[in-house]
Amino acid sequence: MNLITADYIYTPNGFVENGTVAYNDKIEAVDTLQALTEKYPDADIHYAGKNSVLYPGFINTHVHLEFSANTTTLKYGGFMPWLDSVIKHRDELIQACDNRLMLSKTKEMLHSGITTFGAISSFGAELEACVEAAQRVVFFNELIGSNAAYADALYNDFLERIKASQSCEEKDHITPAIAIHSPYSVHPVILQRAVQVAKQNNLPLSAHFLESQAERQWLEEGEGDFKPFFEKFFNTSTPVTSIKEFMHAFDTYPTHFTHCVQANEDELAHLSSKGHSIAHCPRSNRLLGCGRLEIEKVRGLKIPFSVATDGLSSNWSLNLFDELRAAVMMHHAGPLETLSNLLIRSVTSDAAKILRLNVGRIEAGREADFAIISLPDTPSSVDDIALQTILHTQKASEVYIGGEKIV
Ligand code: BEZ
Ligand code: FE2
Repeated sequence: MNLITADYIYTPNGFVENGTVAYNDKIEAVDTLQALTEKYPDADIHYAGKNSVLYPGFINTHVHLEFSANTTTLKYGGFMPWLDSVIKHRDELIQACDNRLMLSKTKEMLHSGITTFGAISSFGAELEACVEAAQRVVFFNELIGSNAAYADALYNDFLERIKASQSCEEKDHITPAIAIHSPYSVHPVILQRAVQVAKQNNLPLSAHFLESQAERQWLEEGEGDFKPFFEKFFNTSTPVTSIKEFMHAFDTYPTHFTHCVQANEDELAHLSSKGHSIAHCPRSNRLLGCGRLEIEKVRGLKIPFSVATDGLSSNWSLNLFDELRAAVMMHHAGPLETLSNLLIRSVTSDAAKILRLNVGRIEAGREADFAIISLPDTPSSVDDIALQTILHTQKASEVYIGGEKIV
């Protein structure tokens, strides 16, 4: 048995002072050091240090490792200029993104305390890096293809990629899963089939949804900035689906929708009524000119949400604390303490529930995944710890996965 004692522990009941966690690969108990040394007299004891805060390992539910080579290449400021630049530089960016680079990005996440991530995989190229990574990975095989002529071939390739990720299950901390690229880029026939596959195999399911104003206008009117894009690259001037048709395809299976910045109240209410969740990527939304997700409305409708980094195609780091700081700045109107606590919950217990993994909470029976951070000084009140953690943390001081110390 191992005991970690920290100045503060983030528990489901809030921050507890001078708490101790007993663990092997799973958490066995959470109590005082005295009670746990009496219970486990032979345990190894580790004190995490002055002003330490022990969190469950953080969870980044949405990242694209395949675009890790981008730093200054892609065009930011608006969604369509960005998408055009992705098409233009796609091959060179993918070429430049080898296993070593992707693995180094999983390490960047690890050092920011991320012990689980959801990898959105367009081609399956990052499977090896994800197998090698220290973290738990929900491996979202992505389906793309709006053109009916190519849909079958793309769908078959997608099925092969699912199989490849299934063969890595269990031993390698990989959970196979399915992602739908978006309403504008996936033909409804293969969309329906993919949702069925997710349901039948009980695989986590995710989809980009209503990210930009251009997407909304294209789906509603067949007009706007997407029109010349589809005419140029796909020789078509009509969308393959509508917002309603796309959204209703997921009605019977809870799905993790990414962005939803342009979703209206009715659509958000519908997501809520079907038990869906949202991945909120504030920096990506800002850089691509997509706007702000109204998290007040998301909260009001009780839609579970996670804060996630998205990929380096629309971000400058995969550090979850950079993302949380951006979220604090973006959602400027509400009470700061409430927001900070909500954001910490969104990358721990709420994210774990969304990905359906037994992590994200410091309580007996959960996997022993921990991220310990050290505040620069003693907080004046336990009520400030969430905010002060977000403001002051660049890196976790220690990281554990399944009871094993990784950092
Ligand atoms: C498509 O297959 O329709 C598509 C792919 C990438 C971006 C946009 C559309
Ligand atoms: Fe994304």
